[in-house]
Amino acid sequence: MIPGPRKWLRAMFGALEAICSRVFTPEWNPILQLGALGWFFFWIVAVSGVYLYVFFDTGITRAYDTVEALTHAQPWAGGVMRSLHRYASDGLVIIALTHLLREFALDQMRGKRWFAWITGLPVLMLIYVSGITGYWLVWDVMAQYVAVMTGELLDVLPLFGEPISRNFVNEASLSSRFFTLMSFIHIAAPLLLLLFMWIHIHRHTAARIQPARSFGLVVLASLLGLSLVVPAVSQPRANLDIVPATLGLDWFYLAAYPLVQQWGGVAVWQLLGGALLLLGLLPWLPRKRTPPVAQVSLLNCNGCGRCVADCPFGALSLEPRSDWQSYAVEAVVNPDRCVSCGLCVGSCPTGTPFRSASTFISGIELPHLPLAGLRERLSESSAALTGSDRLVIFACEHAGKLDAELRRNAVVAELPCIGMIPPPFIDFIVARRLADGIAIAGCAANACYERFGQRWTEERIAGKRDPWLRARVPRERIALSWAADLRAFRGRLASLPPLRLTDKGSSRPESLPAGRRWPVPVRAVGMTLVLGLLAGGTAALATRPAWRQLAPDQAVLRLSIRHATATKIECKPLTPEQMAALKPNMRRPVDCPRERWPVYLELERDGRLVYRATHRPSGLWDDGAVTVFRTFRIPAAPQSILLRMRDSGRESGFDHARSGTINPAPGQNLVIEFHPAEGFVWQ
Ligand code: HEM
Ligand code: SF4
Ligand code: SF4
Repeated sequence: MIPGPRKWLRAMFGALEAICSRVFTPEWNPILQLGALGWFFFWIVAVSGVYLYVFFDTGITRAYDTVEALTHAQPWAGGVMRSLHRYASDGLVIIALTHLLREFALDQMRGKRWFAWITGLPVLMLIYVSGITGYWLVWDVMAQYVAVMTGELLDVLPLFGEPISRNFVNEASLSSRFFTLMSFIHIAAPLLLLLFMWIHIHRHTAARIQPARSFGLVVLASLLGLSLVVPAVSQPRANLDIVPATLGLDWFYLAAYPLVQQWGGVAVWQLLGGALLLLGLLPWLPRKRTPPVAQVSLLNCNGCGRCVADCPFGALSLEPRSDWQSYAVEAVVNPDRCVSCGLCVGSCPTGTPFRSASTFISGIELPHLPLAGLRERLSESSAALTGSDRLVIFACEHAGKLDAELRRNAVVAELPCIGMIPPPFIDFIVARRLADGIAIAGCAANACYERFGQRWTEERIAGKRDPWLRARVPRERIALSWAADLRAFRGRLASLPPLRLTDKGSSRPESLPAGRRWPVPVRAVGMTLVLGLLAGGTAALATRPAWRQLAPDQAVLRLSIRHATATKIECKPLTPEQMAALKPNMRRPVDCPRERWPVYLELERDGRLVYRATHRPSGLWDDGAVTVFRTFRIPAAPQSILLRMRDSGRESGFDHARSGTINPAPGQNLVIEFHPAEGFVWQ
């Protein structure tokens, strides 16, 4: 089931990344730094939120006015902060969902990499909780919609004794209690989000949590520009006595809400629960077969710690020595975290093929890909190469297939990551004249599947990271080709003077094709276009298209009933014997079984039965009040209604009934309640 969509998504992301690398350059490419951008947007939301909170009144009566004052009385400060807060929150949803899709598409979440995926799910949920409670606080018509719909959604869960929706029945029933709870959640959820974001990257060594600095400034400037051009504003003030027919919805956060109205709360919970369950199972669908984990050879490990520094997944640590050698520490692999990427193999200074055949075991190796075997294969296969464009290609197994033309006159060594090659191997190939050039074909620029393979390789070849490539190796015979575009390199190889080692050290390795960039003005135009489109799209979806929750000629009828029915069995006095049979702390003169009668309720409109149900009392022993909360969309026109209720356990007939004519205005919220003394009441 998974490979199909994953293949399509991967192709889509591949194309998107290639375009963005052209427009933004690989260093700025937003698709390649989604996690870092997520952190950046989180901080924008947090800082702007603190500013807003200083001026915000958490009481329901003043909330709307304080937000309005922020927006209009201080447009350059509060207004901009409010817009930044809203648009960065929307940005967070876009980033989190794109990031999720990309991690899935690239399959960076199965096997040992499940942890970031699973911890990403609470991150996603907390983003939604933060955003939804945030919209609640504005207390405009969108907030009203969110409050009423969230109430309906929560009320289908058997969590609350009394329906949440009853807090939002009409203006008279409204209290600040629930609203204050929302303000509290709106502060607590982002703090929890921060905690989970930190846990999320816990297993990633040096996780990237800041975008490229100058790109971050460009993004901030775009958000500021958007905030000035399309400031975030409130919709009309909430009024629970009226149901607005149409209203603007932030579709990033509230897309599921219209479904509550269409399908009902149960179906929406099923959908959300099912989606979450599927997401939670994805890392094991299907289960990934991981090759054997890295293995330390204590005889060769001197405890230098380079492998620990280079492992992208925190799978290595230095522990006190467990053998007779005089070094203080040794490298230890954590098999639960090791993804067998081989980057540690490339970092170990003992991985030099110049060592004699019998002793060539590196301090750390992948058991299924021993370096001795690689050396042997390279030496043997290269003997068959001819001419002056003989190539050894180290190819990353995640970076697409090399075509037959490229494989011609070449020895190809496929590795889990190009970061697995210890630099002395390149020196060895040149020194032994095994080939005229070495091509290192990895993933697209800045998009290394194993996170650090490209970076470590570049730094090792440039002599900036241990173990580095000796200066004597002519760098023009090396191609770092993150996109496997090696034809040009091959053509140039043939025209180079005869191969010899050099003490000067030559310029830089060939870098293809990341080095080819569009001219700055073209990129500037491209970037403005892309960022402008993203900003425009965000602003548009933050309120449009408007959602029509009610036809213009409709009104709403709400049954809001809370009724404690009589107990089923009347209290009866206990005899002295019966009392004596009870435990001392349970002795009482009368026995009062607490179970109450259910309520049977019918509603007829214009002579047609539109609702009929039996409602059980609340409480484990059916001893609480019966609560009924139902919403009906009705025509805004004169019509007769009849309400009948049975609450005494009788088999037929009714204990309470009321009929009458109602004539609701369009959009009116007509509430029907029940009071034991008066029976059914409505305005
Ligand atoms: C806005 C919220 C999120 C932020 C800020 C965030 C941040 C990050 C960061 C910084 C990394 C490490 C990137 C690196 O340095 O290589 C990362 C990796 C990852 N994230 Fe997220 N993330 C978020 C949401 C999610 C969600 C919702 C999911 C999916 C459920 C997810 C799944 C992953 C996975 C699978 C990886 C690991 C990829 C690998 O093993 O290389 N993230 N995230
Ligand atoms: S890099 Fe090699 S020698 Fe150094 S600690 Fe790791 S395994 Fe041991
Ligand atoms: S193979 Fe990769 S994940 Fe495993 S220890 Fe080595 S560097 Fe770390």
